[in-house]
Amino acid sequence: MTLPVVLISEEEIQTRVLELAEQISADYSDSDDLVLVGVLKGSFIFLADIARRLTIPRTIEFIAVSSYGNGSRSTGAVRLLMDVRGNIEGKHVLIVEDIVDTGHTLKYLIGILESHRPTSVKTCALVRKAERAEVEVNVDYLGFDIGDEWVVGYGLDYAERNRTLPYIGVISPDD
Ligand code: IMP
Ligand code: MG
Repeated sequence: MTLPVVLISEEEIQTRVLELAEQISADYSDSDDLVLVGVLKGSFIFLADIARRLTIPRTIEFIAVSSYGNGSRSTGAVRLLMDVRGNIEGKHVLIVEDIVDTGHTLKYLIGILESHRPTSVKTCALVRKAERAEVEVNVDYLGFDIGDEWVVGYGLDYAERNRTLPYIGVISPDD
């Protein structure tokens, strides 16, 4: 198998993550109840990096959904595999997602989290494929916009492979 071609380097990612963390820290500077909700599995590296760069109090929760099998195209049908465990009622929630493709997953997640009656729900995503949007969903903190290509690395996978690459790379579908 050939190595993915670098699309966003490790250095570019780290620079952007720091910028996002500074922005989030400023925006929530009056809050002592920010809950970062990482979307498993793809967000685990992004969440770890961003969480450690925040300068404000924060706690971590995880949620898991499934919208794809091992393939690469969304059906639009999202299923909840694991809800958050902690009580998020009355707290500020920031969803931390790896990638927004059609937007169905993030829209579904906002609905699930709002049902727990938090004070606010905002969204943070590492990458977005703007031209593939099928539903309108607001990304409050966005790392990078990319084109319509399958990306792996920094948490993102293709059939569970390449999640731990330090950069974001593009694979060709036959790899
Ligand atoms: P959406 O519901 O179509 O927005 O799909 C979002 C989910 O699809 C993400 O959370 C990822 O798990 C997965 N996904 C979409 N595009 C990619 C990609 O290029 N690489 C890896 N995972 C992707
Ligand atoms: Mg995901």
